[in-house]
Amino acid sequence: MITLKNVILRRSAKKLLDGATVNLNPGEKVGLVGRNGAGKSSLFALFNGTLHEDGGDFYIPKQWRMAQVAQDMPETEESATDFVVGGDTRLTELRATLAAIEAAYAENPDDADIGMELAHAYTDLADAGEHDAVPRAQALVLGLGFKSHELDEPVNSFSGGWRMRLQLARALMCPSDLLLLDEPTNHLDLDALVWLEAWLQKYAGTMIVISHDREFLDAVTDVTLHIANAQLTRYGGNYSKFEDMRALQMEQQQVAFSKQQDKIAHLQKFIDRFKAKASKAKQAQSRVKALERMERVAPLLAEADFTFEFKEPGNIPNPMLSIDNASFGYEIEGEAPKTILRGVSRSVLAGQRIGILGANGQGKSTLVKTIAREMGALAGQVTEGKGLNIGYFAQQELDVLRPQDNPLEHMVRMARELGSNAKEATGEQALRGYLGSFNFSGDMVKQPVGTMSGGEKARLVLAMMVWQRPNLLLLDEPTNHLDLATREALAVALNEFEGTLMLVSHDRALLRSVCDEFWLVGRGVVTDFDGDLDDYQRYLLDESKRLREEAKVAVREADAVAAAAAAAAAAAPVKSSNTPEQRKQDAQERQQRSEQAKPLKKEIAKIDERMAAASAERSTLEARLAEPLPPAEIADAGKRLKALNDEIAQLEERWLALSDQLEALAA
Ligand SMILES: Nc1ncnc2c1ncn2[C@@H]1O[C@H](COP(=O)(O)OP(=O)(O)OP(=O)(O)O)[C@@H](O)[C@H]1O
Ligand SMILES: [Mg+2]
Repeated sequence: MITLKNVILRRSAKKLLDGATVNLNPGEKVGLVGRNGAGKSSLFALFNGTLHEDGGDFYIPKQWRMAQVAQDMPETEESATDFVVGGDTRLTELRATLAAIEAAYAENPDDADIGMELAHAYTDLADAGEHDAVPRAQALVLGLGFKSHELDEPVNSFSGGWRMRLQLARALMCPSDLLLLDEPTNHLDLDALVWLEAWLQKYAGTMIVISHDREFLDAVTDVTLHIANAQLTRYGGNYSKFEDMRALQMEQQQVAFSKQQDKIAHLQKFIDRFKAKASKAKQAQSRVKALERMERVAPLLAEADFTFEFKEPGNIPNPMLSIDNASFGYEIEGEAPKTILRGVSRSVLAGQRIGILGANGQGKSTLVKTIAREMGALAGQVTEGKGLNIGYFAQQELDVLRPQDNPLEHMVRMARELGSNAKEATGEQALRGYLGSFNFSGDMVKQPVGTMSGGEKARLVLAMMVWQRPNLLLLDEPTNHLDLATREALAVALNEFEGTLMLVSHDRALLRSVCDEFWLVGRGVVTDFDGDLDDYQRYLLDESKRLREEAKVAVREADAVAAAAAAAAAAAPVKSSNTPEQRKQDAQERQQRSEQAKPLKKEIAKIDERMAAASAERSTLEARLAEPLPPAEIADAGKRLKALNDEIAQLEERWLALSDQLEALAA
């Protein structure tokens, strides 16, 4: 059990927890929620020992193995698979132990003790799951959206977002009693998100997850910890239940508060009236005491909600830009450029609000980045309208911030760089005031950005973008890190924005509320998407199926190559086994191999059975989806279908891995 008793937790001058008392039981799935900067990540730092309580008692079982997602960007030439296998810390330790003992054994092959140790080391390693570590790791990597040909590619060859997915896979790989996940869905698209939900639902240990995503929290948690105003409150329910309970609680508190205010006013009146009268002085006195003793109900602290708006753009060129027969992609040093989208011809007009859709890895960000001039078009033309002023917001923009500098310094520098082009007042006082309107008040304008929370950084980038008065907004996943209230503020501001908007987001609520047309990026081209977001969900399902089929063909091709190689190897001369000892040894080995094959065959049989059941269910579901259904049922059926497809894909993956192992044994 994790126990906090009257815990006080500080970050420099800020008190993040003031007398927090809460228990978390083993096996509970907990959602940790609260506004940006409320102290969620800091609470994780307390749990994992990087931060210590400043008062009260904190207890966490010492023997608990903890898994968490490393926050740094991995830099290594290791393959994606190996990197994720490395997340199994126990396995890594045992491998190191084995290597050491093997070395000792090589020097003293006659030492019986070392021989014993060696035997133990082997069994320990087997117990830790050495035999299927690689397929387990690969199932995680594939589940998180990587393609099968990427499994062996070096970690360094992936972009930032994908490397963070590998960090997540690494954490999931680690056997743990406590799993700490800080906004795990930020780098995920819908596909991977649904996969992660399914994975977490099967996780057996205690899990605490920080997220601003309602649906995700509802799917994976059954307890909610809310952190606000330095208080930590436990609610026995998922996020939706928490919202209901909290609304009720707030209402009750409001009622209690006003009742008490009435009573206080009444007492006070009595005291004021009678304190001068000798005969009543005693009673007045007792009421003064009553007033002093009264435990005050706190007034509702309305959470400092904030709204902002985009300033009216100075001028709006029309068309904003036109793209003429362009190819988009990226250049790799020493290689031919990689084209992702070709033959793109479209124009972006004043006032359009375009949602950019597309399955993961199809080139949405490439398109947006090229328009934002972060990279050049590989061919064709992108012509900008006169006076085009782009406001570009992307995940990696957070890295653009300088950790040592504070928000005010960022604003001052930006104002200076824009020089006479700046349309806003550039005095320090004005900039301070401006930051205040984005909820950076008092001390915070002077806090180094490096120490700010994820959401605070995102809010600063947003503030800097708004200040530049763009007329074309290019937003690539802008809501990551933002809390719900800030997301809503963004949605409102975007709705009132008078310029043109291009938005990439997996936040369906946001897409729905601010976009009125959609482009679809997929299969190497950009097309109009005629349909709503439900059609899009179905499109995604089909698309992931198609990609999976493609991957399977690739795997089969790779297998054919491997089989040919194996055949060639088999054709090579082998040692003949003529001596009796040799024959005996061979027989023993065969026996051993058949023993080893048994569990594999058993698991294969089980998988066959499960696969048949899952496929049958899938057919039924697909048949149902072909009929007209109410939307709620479509959503449920779609979700289930997705889960089934994922499961089947995983089963197939595992089946392939097992039959490979069987084949290897037979060889
Ligand atoms: N080293 C530090 N020095 C000063 N203030 C800090 C430091 N680290 C964090 N803070 C502040 O403490 C507060 C809590 O930060 P924390 O990262 O725990 O928030 P959070 O709840 O995880 O927010 P988010 O939802 O944005 O991730 C923030 O206001 C942050 O600016
Ligand atoms: Mg955080």
